[in-house]
Amino acid sequence: MEILRTVAAMTDWSEKKRLQGMTIGLVPTMGFFHQGHLHLMRLCRQQMDHLVVSLFVNPIQFAPGEDLAAYPRDLDRDAALAAAEGTEVLFAPDNVAMYPPGFQTRVLVGSLTETLCGAGRPGHFAGVTTVVTKLLHIIRPHCAVFGEKDYQQLVVIRRLVADLNLDVRILSHDIVREPDGLAMSSRNTYLSTTQRRSALCLYKSLQLARRRVAEGVLAAATLKSEIEQYLATFPEVSVEYVSIVDQESLQDKTKVDETVRLAMAVRVGSTRLIDNGRLC
Ligand code: PAF
Repeated sequence: MEILRTVAAMTDWSEKKRLQGMTIGLVPTMGFFHQGHLHLMRLCRQQMDHLVVSLFVNPIQFAPGEDLAAYPRDLDRDAALAAAEGTEVLFAPDNVAMYPPGFQTRVLVGSLTETLCGAGRPGHFAGVTTVVTKLLHIIRPHCAVFGEKDYQQLVVIRRLVADLNLDVRILSHDIVREPDGLAMSSRNTYLSTTQRRSALCLYKSLQLARRRVAEGVLAAATLKSEIEQYLATFPEVSVEYVSIVDQESLQDKTKVDETVRLAMAVRVGSTRLIDNGRLC
């Protein structure tokens, strides 16, 4: 596996593969790989001739006061894990390569970025859509794979690709969970032993909601209030949002049906965690 650090080296590599008629798949990441990332790599590898993984902790998607400096990093470990999944190139640019002096452009997607995580993290999705647009232009993949844990991000990127006529297929992968149900996330490493127990509140809430829906409780307001009360019983947990939304528009729904998703964000101590899923 090659580790490429510059935009020019990455673009040259992709250009050569394209001229040879090869297909390229991209898994964009911020590193510190867990099984969730490895599943995305496997899916991408199955679909395409070549797998490129990008590793870039994107500073512009972190608001001031968020965990940019603390975000876990381990390039050697990540490189070994990516290589074992058949990755041909690990694209690991530094901040200056991605945002040279004078950089001032943002790619903005509209109302989809204003709800859910967008409401509590101003500027976050503009940072994501800007870096993803750059990565798609630099690497020119035929497909790119995103995980459903960041469900809003997936919907926003599908919109971005459609709206800008970008020539790339977006694939998604189900949430990969720990054996007890906690959605895998690089941020789980921040949790203490007791916080790790509390973090299960998200998966347990999803299960509670599915049970209540199966019992016939379909009113979104009732379900949301039951979930909020349940979340409040876990130590160190504070709720950012519990929303029942249309899975495409991300707008609130009043009644559960097969088109909705439950989306939640909480803080466990100071760690922000999210989860989501269908209810029927
Ligand atoms: O999901 C992530 O890890 C990041 O938001 C992404 C898509 C790599 C952009 O920085």
